Amino acid sequence: MVRICVIHGPNLNLLGVRDPEVYGSHTLAEINREIENLAQELEVEVRIIQYNSEGEIIEALHDAREWADAIIINPAAYTHYSVAIRDAIQAVRLPTIEVHLSNIYAREEFRHHSITAPVVYGQISGFGVNSYLLALRAAKDVVQKRWR
Ligand code: DQA
Repeated sequence: MVRICVIHGPNLNLLGVRDPEVYGSHTLAEINREIENLAQELEVEVRIIQYNSEGEIIEALHDAREWADAIIINPAAYTHYSVAIRDAIQAVRLPTIEVHLSNIYAREEFRHHSITAPVVYGQISGFGVNSYLLALRAAKDVVQKRWR
């Protein structure tokens, strides 16, 4: 069975109350339930975690080496400036999909640049909870078929 590590970055624990006009009204628990339901349908195993701190995200990326076939990560604000998370993604060498609930290119200028995008397999941005669900389908395909 394909095993996928899903990592939510900082402040995503506040979804539902945090800027619902930007991020939608789903709570993180609701998003996680949708990911788990789709995982069951696709017959993939998912482990989902959320960390606010950079160090914990890096540890989770390192741990994924031991068991996961692919990573889905929403690095949240770290997307725009964390060289350490970018280096960890690159070092771990698992196919990694970067997701964003909002379309980062349609927002403030400082969000237009993703420091992690050049080291991930691909990026999905702007589809709300569907960004994660599309990423799950893509991650399974990448692991099984290695398209591209
Ligand atoms: C985000 C976009 C980031 O710019 C922001 O800092 C977040 C969430 C998104 O999912 O749209 O915290 O990654």
